[in-house]
Amino acid sequence: VSETQTIRALLQKTREWFAKKGIESARLDAELLLAHALTETRLKLYLDLDRPLKDDEVARYRELVKRRGAYEPVAYILGTREFFGTEIAVGPGVLIPRPETEHLVEEVLARLPEGAEGTIVDVCTGSGCVAIALARARPSMHVIATDLSDDAIARARANLERLALGDRVTLRSGDLLEPVRDLRSVRAIVGNPPYVTREAYATLMPDVRDHEPERALVGEDADGLGHHRRILADARAILDANGFVALEIGADQEDAVRELSRPDLSCSEVVKDLSGLPRVAVFSRDTTPTDVGA
Ligand SMILES: C[S@@+](CC[C@H](N)C(=O)[O-])C[C@H]1O[C@@H](n2cnc3c(N)ncnc32)[C@H](O)[C@@H]1O
Repeated sequence: VSETQTIRALLQKTREWFAKKGIESARLDAELLLAHALTETRLKLYLDLDRPLKDDEVARYRELVKRRGAYEPVAYILGTREFFGTEIAVGPGVLIPRPETEHLVEEVLARLPEGAEGTIVDVCTGSGCVAIALARARPSMHVIATDLSDDAIARARANLERLALGDRVTLRSGDLLEPVRDLRSVRAIVGNPPYVTREAYATLMPDVRDHEPERALVGEDADGLGHHRRILADARAILDANGFVALEIGADQEDAVRELSRPDLSCSEVVKDLSGLPRVAVFSRDTTPTDVGA
């Protein structure tokens, strides 16, 4: 005989089980999965904590809990993740947008005034989250987004269509800036390329390592910044004279990324995230006063 399962009791049991498995956001995950199983909001759960659940509701919830217990990320189970105020559809094969990456969007917007025109390139677009955020915030600009992965391009295309942004963001498939090398006078090249070193990859949480695509995470070269190196080498040819490059980096890569400065494109700023960790490197043409009148 099964005991009556209330929302409160189920959430409590799941929280304990997730916590034992080392899942950090145990309570939140339990709430998100239960809300999804019941097609309700989390708030609604709280308003009705003592409601007994029907067997089929419990069975639906248990399936989701089992998947999370196997360390499948919550965003893949729900099929969606919010990024910069927009619901982005995600699934296996495509990186789940991270809150840290919202800093990249903010830094880019801070450098492109409202009403600015021209083209932004989002390199390594994945789900399309950065391109979508920029296109929505700067309706006067066009975004061209690139990725090497067919899964990513397909997912980004589906997101663009669902959000009716298909004519504002163009997708091009290929290696880094190769698909956009015909462009000139680009206002900004932005991106969150892979940057985790092979060594660090081995230590990532199982949620990430066993479920998210390795190609989206592991960077080239021993320092993990090989993609950044190659992007910077090709950026100048397509960039406007006042254009800039903004790339996400790992918290321990500030010194290494500053060394990627080139005579034609230098690291003008490394911006920290909300935790005070280096997160976004901005490169622009060197216009220091010593150049003036030289
Ligand atoms: C860290 S994910 C970023 C995805 C998305 N912009 C975000 O912030 O959530 C990196 C993306 O780069 C893509 N990628 C990896 N190597 C690439 C390459 N050589 N050329 C183009 N894209 C590449 C991966 O497929 C993945 O979608």
